[in-house]
Amino acid sequence: MKLILLGPPGAGKGTQAKMLTERFGIPQISTGDILRGAVKDATPMGMKAKAYMDAGALVPDDVVVGIVQERLQQDDCGSGFILDGFPRTVPQADALKVTLQDLGKDLDAVISLEVDTEALVERLTGRRTCCNCGRGFHVKFDPPVSPGVCNACGGELIQREDDQEETIRKRLEVYREQTSPLIQYYREEGLLVEVDGMQDMNRVQDQILSVLRAA
Ligand code: AP5
Repeated sequence: MKLILLGPPGAGKGTQAKMLTERFGIPQISTGDILRGAVKDATPMGMKAKAYMDAGALVPDDVVVGIVQERLQQDDCGSGFILDGFPRTVPQADALKVTLQDLGKDLDAVISLEVDTEALVERLTGRRTCCNCGRGFHVKFDPPVSPGVCNACGGELIQREDDQEETIRKRLEVYREQTSPLIQYYREEGLLVEVDGMQDMNRVQDQILSVLRAA
């Protein structure tokens, strides 16, 4: 299965990608996670990306395209992958098309998760992530058993720096301007399937699974 999860910040791409990864044993390729890892490790790429990420802007195309090209060639992508947060611009989508052609691979589907703006803001302001194992929670929709503590490993739950309301609204504007044209792009390629992301997480997952069965 070779899949793109498309959708605005907070649509549930990461949540759904993790559920699919567990089910199918194929990797989630999240450019956001890879970039946050590089920032944490203070690599040259991370230091370049940090200012863009903190401002809610997109990291330059050449940086993220390079990341994904390298990642897709790794052995664990042999039987499939889930792209989460990539592509995000038309030039990224064009570069992905060329990369997949070179690798002799075709996408099965592009799933666009549709969620109302105010629900996105509520999801992102309430999101918490384990600083140890990376598991995601939500203070209202998916709360940990003990506040501030990860159910899985006992690590501390933290809030992402770009999950402050002002930055969230900037990220949503960037999505509308630079990423939403990809909906039409993949519709024209005959790959786009829209899924109602306002539903409960498990219902969203069921709907994605039925899309994949039909693909
Ligand atoms: P990235 O990490 O990709 O962030 P994003 O796209 O803004 O998406 P999020 O991770 O915020 O949201 P999500 O859709 O994964 O939602 P989640 O499942 O966590 O990118 C961060 C930054 O990196 C960018 O701003 C940019 O600077 C840079 N970057 C990354 N990729 C790039 C690229 N390709 N090009 C250039 N720059 C790039 O869910 C959110 C919350 O809601 C969670 O708490 C969850 O528990 C909850 N939730 C999920 N589903 C539901 C549901 N159905 N009902 C209720 N709550 C739900």
